[in-house]
This record gives sequence, C-alpha cells and structure tokens, in this order.
Amino acid sequence: MAGNKTFTMLKPDAVSKGYTGEILKQITGSGFRIVALKMTQMTEQDAKTFYEVHKERPFYGELVDYMTSGPIVAAILEKENAVDDFRTLIGATNPEEAAEGTIRKKYAASISENAIHGSDSDENATIESNFHFSGREQF
Ligand code: RTP
Ligand code: MG
Repeated sequence: MAGNKTFTMLKPDAVSKGYTGEILKQITGSGFRIVALKMTQMTEQDAKTFYEVHKERPFYGELVDYMTSGPIVAAILEKENAVDDFRTLIGATNPEEAAEGTIRKKYAASISENAIHGSDSDENATIESNFHFSGREQF
C-alpha cells in the first residue's frame, strides 16, 4: 500500500530567489499537509550523505556544491499517495521536460538547479525525513 508521507527540500536557488512562500502555497493548495518544516543549510558532509546514491554520477560534485550553496527549506508532507502525487506536482527533473503548471516548470532554472526535491519511494521518504528532523520536530 502506498504511504502517506513524503519529504521535500526547497533547494538553494528557489529559496534565494524568494519563491519559498509561493511554492509552499502551491504545495498546501494541492492537498499536502505540512507535518515538519525548517530553514537550514546543509554542510558538505550532509549533502554527500543525502545524495550518496549519486556518488558515481558525473554531476555529484556539482550537486553537492549547489545543495550547500545557501539555505534550503526542508519539510515533511502528508497526503494519501504522497510520494507519487508529490513527484507529479514537482514535475520532471529537467524543467524543460516538466509538465505545464508543475513547480519545476514554474520555478526551476535548469536540470542542475531545479528548485525542489521530492522523495522517490516510501522508504527514502522515511530515511530523508529522519535525516533532517528529530522525532519531536515531526507532527
Ligand atoms: P531530486 O532527488 O532532487 O528530487 O531530483 P530527481 O529525483 O528528479 O533527480 P535525481 O536523478 O535524483 O537527481 C538528483 C538531483 O541531481 C541534480 N542533477 N543534475 N546535471 C545533471 O545532469 C543532473 N542530473 C541530476 C538535480 O538537482 C537533481 O534533482
Ligand atoms: Mg531523486
């Protein structure tokens, strides 16, 4: 059965351009309930650990530099079928391929600086949520 929680980060480009409020409004307006929320900045070690699955990929170094370049907004979101529905809401990794109206289509600059993260499975949603939030920060 599909789980009801996912994890997201508004990435440094979206936060620095002042899109935080608009993006959170689109998320909650699409039926997701915020059950954890914070602004924080990842250290190099945080980003390397978070994106460890990509460590052999050519863009790994660039990704770590980008994700540590400024503050992010991390959140845990609750909704029925949360992981899949949120991936639909954010759109394709490459904003040029993202559907009209999706968050990446509206706010992402490029495939590298693509505004927002969404967990790709229930298992990773739990791992990523617990990476960023302690138990008493999750409601
Ligand atoms: P995310 O994990 O951030 O939600 O993104 P995603 O699933 O759509 O894409 P993924 O394949 O997991 O890639 C993670 C992030 O790495 C950067 N990337 N750059 N330059 C490139 O070709 C490239 N490909 C991926 C993006 O920031 C992507 O979101
Ligand atoms: Mg991914």
